[in-house]
Amino acid sequence: MEPLKGLILSGGAGTRLRPITHTSAKQLVPVANKPVLFYGIEALVEAGVKEIGIIIAPETGDEIRAAAGDGSQFGAEITYIVQDSPAGLAHAVLTAEDFIGSSPFVMYLGDNLLRDGLRGLVSTFTEHEPDALILLTPVDDPESYGVAELDGEDNIVRLIEKPKDPPSNLALVGVYLFQNLIFDAARSLEPSWRGELEITEAIDKLIDDGRTVRSEVVRGWWKDTGQLADMLEANRLVLEELVTEIEGDVDEDSKVEGRVVIGPGAKLERAVVRGPAVIGAGAHIEDAFIGPYTSIGDDVHVRRSEVENSIVLSGSVVEDLGTRMEASLLGKEVKLTRSQGMPQTLQLLVGDRSEIKLV
Ligand code: TTP
Repeated sequence: MEPLKGLILSGGAGTRLRPITHTSAKQLVPVANKPVLFYGIEALVEAGVKEIGIIIAPETGDEIRAAAGDGSQFGAEITYIVQDSPAGLAHAVLTAEDFIGSSPFVMYLGDNLLRDGLRGLVSTFTEHEPDALILLTPVDDPESYGVAELDGEDNIVRLIEKPKDPPSNLALVGVYLFQNLIFDAARSLEPSWRGELEITEAIDKLIDDGRTVRSEVVRGWWKDTGQLADMLEANRLVLEELVTEIEGDVDEDSKVEGRVVIGPGAKLERAVVRGPAVIGAGAHIEDAFIGPYTSIGDDVHVRRSEVENSIVLSGSVVEDLGTRMEASLLGKEVKLTRSQGMPQTLQLLVGDRSEIKLV
């Protein structure tokens, strides 16, 4: 078999993560201070897949190009492929046809995180050479997913979108390995009720044509970071495996407990950081508490405030909150402050489709 290429889907509309996705690609939101997308690139490289195409949207593509570059920082060779509109996963596959050529390939959704990487999956694929190999994960609510019916071995006999009466609890994860046949299957599709070319329908076509579509159940955890709660959970899962590394300055009146990373040039003054947590380069934490499962980005300032179980992107300022901030995602260069004295009012400058909950 020819060597596998990689195809990471990093376009899309990202409606479920607005307003972050109004100005930025969701695949670049950091988990433990590293963009989600980088975990995917690293997983491909680690599995020996170094020639990688990244599908980008016209609106957010430049930012993704700037972040991932030519791939040399990962030991990969990256080609960018612009998808004019988010017309579905099978549409993204067709957009990449020139890049893929005659190679088999791994398709990976750029907002997904897999704990145990892709190595096992790639070796199953190269060993058995099925026409497709799909990664599955057990879920509690199969009614909300694309679900696979298996034949008792590992072969998929049917895929059903959001089944009322699910044949199994095994849902499609967002990692697919294909031989070249998938292009013909994708080309034969009509847009679905939601106006997209659905990859599940293309795979169904392979099954109908008598092709072998194998499956493998994910080991370790898998997380789709498409919405806030999942993003925070992915952050917790990754921080769970953090290894302490303290490069910045911690003054005598500060306390660092548990597994904590403090980036270069960061400063803690009269602060408590309780891990697992990561504090980015150049961040200042003063008279503040940073609780478990928090990622503080580069050059963030937290003063006289408490932050826990949250992701704060670079350049933001959090001051004098007077209440603990929890389960929150702050974008880049957000300012969250409280004025001193009475009357106690709220003064807000908030972008479109923001979400603010006062509890
Ligand atoms: P989704 O999260 O399913 O779709 P989306 O990004 O449009 O988000 P939302 O549902 O919140 O509006 O997409 C999964 C991944 O695939 C994500 O990284 C974006 C990418 N994608 C493309 O690259 N092209 C597409 O046409 C679609 C639909 C998704």
